[in-house]
Amino acid sequence: MAQLWGGRFEGETDELAWAFNASIGFDQRLLKEDIEGSIAHAKMLEKQGILTNSEASEIVRGLSSIYADVYGGSLAITDRYEDVHSFVEANLIERCGDVGKKLHTGRSRNDQVALDMRLYTRARVIDIDKCLRALRETILNLMKEHIDTVMPGFTHLQKAQPVTLAHHLGAYFEMFTRDSSRLKDLCARLNVCPLGAGALAGTTYPLDRAFTATLLGFDGPTRNSMDSVSDRDYLIEFLSALSMIMMHLSRFSEEIILWNSNEYGFVEISDAYSTGSSIMPQKKNPDIAELVRGKTGRVYGDLMQLLTTMKGLPLAYNKDMQEDKEGAFDAIDTADACITLFTGMVRTLRFKKDVLEKSAALGFTNATDAADYLVGKGVPFRDAHGIIGRLVLRCVEKNCAIDDLTLTELREFSDSFDEDVFDAISMQTCVEKRLTTGAPGRKAMEEEIRVSEEILKEDWTTAYNDTISDP
Ligand code: ARG
Repeated sequence: MAQLWGGRFEGETDELAWAFNASIGFDQRLLKEDIEGSIAHAKMLEKQGILTNSEASEIVRGLSSIYADVYGGSLAITDRYEDVHSFVEANLIERCGDVGKKLHTGRSRNDQVALDMRLYTRARVIDIDKCLRALRETILNLMKEHIDTVMPGFTHLQKAQPVTLAHHLGAYFEMFTRDSSRLKDLCARLNVCPLGAGALAGTTYPLDRAFTATLLGFDGPTRNSMDSVSDRDYLIEFLSALSMIMMHLSRFSEEIILWNSNEYGFVEISDAYSTGSSIMPQKKNPDIAELVRGKTGRVYGDLMQLLTTMKGLPLAYNKDMQEDKEGAFDAIDTADACITLFTGMVRTLRFKKDVLEKSAALGFTNATDAADYLVGKGVPFRDAHGIIGRLVLRCVEKNCAIDDLTLTELREFSDSFDEDVFDAISMQTCVEKRLTTGAPGRKAMEEEIRVSEEILKEDWTTAYNDTISDP
C-alpha cells in the first residue's frame, strides 16, 4: 500500500478496506488526463512564482517520462496505489525527489479528479460525435441511392401510405443529427476548468485559474469552488445523450430485425454482421442488431446508477462520487462500439427493392389517394372514404390490389371513376404527389438531402480539436 496520507494515522488500513476504497483498477484510464492536468498545474505554479523555473521543468519532465514509460511498457500501474493520482505522484517523487513533492501545492485530489473526468469526457464526447458522423454519412448515401425506392410507410405497424426508402431512412438521419447537436450543447457547457477549486474552498496560494484553464483548452475556470468539486452534471448529461442515441439505434435495430425476417424480407443483413445457429443449419440471425437493441438497457442502467448515486449527496466532495467512473466508462464504450458496428451493418445491408415496392402495392397504401381521386371528381371526402372502404373490402375478398380491379368493377362502387384513376393511384404517382416540405416526393426529398448535406458539413468538434497533445 502506497498511501498519500498517514501522518494522522496510528494503525494500518485493513486490507479489504484498502482494496474496497481503491479505484486504480478503473481510473488508470485517466492517466493521460491526470498527467496533462498536472503539467498545466505545474506551469501555472511556475508562472505565479510558487515553483521556480527549474522545479517546474523538472516536474514536467518527470511527468512526461511517467507517461512515456507506462505507454512504452516499462512502467506498470499496480494496485499498490490507491488511484491514478497517487500512482503519478508517487512515481514523480521517486524520479524527482523533494521537487516532486511540491506538485500538489494548492491542489486536492477533489479538483484533480474533477478535472481528469472533464478532460476525459470532453475527448469521448468528440469521439462519439465522430462515430455518429460516420453513421449519418452512411444513412445519407443510402438516401441518395434510394430516392425512388417505394416502400410502405407504417402506422401501428400496419401499412399506411407509400413512402420511399430514402424518406424512411431520412427519419433516422434527423434523430442522429439531433443527437449530435445534444453533444455539441453539453460539450459547450462542460468546457470549464475545475482545477484550483482545491478540496472545496479554493486555496490561499495565488493561483491563476484562468491560465490553467487556457492551457487545457477550456473556455475558462468554473465559478463556485464547492460546485466545482461536486458537480457531475456534465457526465449525467452525456449519459443521457448516450441513452437517447441508444434508443434511436435500438428502434432502427428493431426495424432491421423485422425487415430481415422471412415474413418481411425487405433486406438482407450481410454475412459479416450475421451469425448462424449451432443446430438449425438454415438460420442466419441478426445478432448484431439484437445486441445493439439489448445493450440499450445497459446504457440506461448506467445513467440511472449515476443519477441515483448523486441524488442524496451533501456538498461538497463525497467518496460516493468515485462511483461515477465505471458506469460512465461502460456507457461510453458500449455506445461507441454500438454506433460503430451498427454503421458497418447498415452500410452493407442489401435492400430488396422489388419486395419493398410489391409490399407497398399490395398493402392498400394508395387507399387515401384513391379517396382523394374521387374528391377531385367532386365526391365529398367522407363519402369517398366510405366508397374506398367498401372497395378495399372487395379487394380483400378477391385478394388483389385496388388497381388490379377493372374500370367496370370500380364503377360498381362509384360512377366518378374514369380511366385516369389507374395513373392517379399508381405507387409512383402516390409518392410523387407528396411534395410538402419533409414529404417523400422526389422534389421534396431532393431538398431534404441537400439540406442534410449542408448540415453534415458543419463539424462543431473542430472547435475542441488538438487543444491537448500527448504529454
Ligand atoms: N479516486 C477518487 C475519486 O475518483 C479521487 C478523489 C479522492 N478524494 C478524496 N478526498 N478521497 O473520486
